[in-house]
Amino acid sequence: PKRVRTVHLQQFKDAGQKFSMLTAYDAQIASIFDEAGIELLLVGDSAANMMMGHSSTLPITVEEMLVFTKSVVNGASRALVVADLPFGSYEASPAQAVATAVRFMKEAGAQAVKIEGTAAMADHVRALVAAGIPVIAHIGFTPQSEHALGGYRVQGRGEAAQALSEDALALEAAGAFCVLMEMVPASLAAEVDGQLRVPTIGIGAGSGTTGQVLVWQDMLGLGTGRVPKFVKQYVNLREVVSRAAGQYRKDVSEGSFPAEEHSFER
Ligand code: KIV
Ligand code: NA
Repeated sequence: PKRVRTVHLQQFKDAGQKFSMLTAYDAQIASIFDEAGIELLLVGDSAANMMMGHSSTLPITVEEMLVFTKSVVNGASRALVVADLPFGSYEASPAQAVATAVRFMKEAGAQAVKIEGTAAMADHVRALVAAGIPVIAHIGFTPQSEHALGGYRVQGRGEAAQALSEDALALEAAGAFCVLMEMVPASLAAEVDGQLRVPTIGIGAGSGTTGQVLVWQDMLGLGTGRVPKFVKQYVNLREVVSRAAGQYRKDVSEGSFPAEEHSFER
């Protein structure tokens, strides 16, 4: 099947259609989502939490993200693969952003990158686009700025709505092919989508964006602890896997696994 490209996402928006993005960090899950027709796979720096057990996205490194990205690229033949540039790998300058993004494109095969930030990142986006690298601009709640933002909270409420809308417009003007909004009031996100020519993607941003994204372990119920309000859990994989592991252990201890059909003859 034909590879999804940024132009196709623009066609979705122009036609009033929606597209889907899920995170992925390995080849196997990437191939499942790819076959299911998910248009975009995000190698999110949420891999820090989901794959490595960190309590924030801040510690994950470029080297670690490159491994996850290569794995997803190997598993996806149709979906557009977007890699998150991790905290500390792009903010210092547009040149730093280009140098890091080039590694993700060249060494890992990513087809686009995502960076977090406000209009202050417009020059970084411009430099990336000039280098031939498609960019998604992530605004609203940006987990890499957790400490500056005072924790996980909805962004763009009240007076802050204007600034968020201006950030989106500035990042579009800088050349971002898509703007992703996290934890933004639904009506504001819809308004921003209407103001922009390019498509938007939402997570905790209501139904008025062009696309939606979820962290796959959240969507499939693999995580522990509290499920965020904006997540829809389609299955409880944690329960399914846990039950299977418990059954396996029981079979082994009772001697009912392996059975004859799992064993070789001499
Ligand atoms: O890293 C991630 O999973 C993300 C999505 C939540 C947008 O950035
Ligand atoms: Na991220």
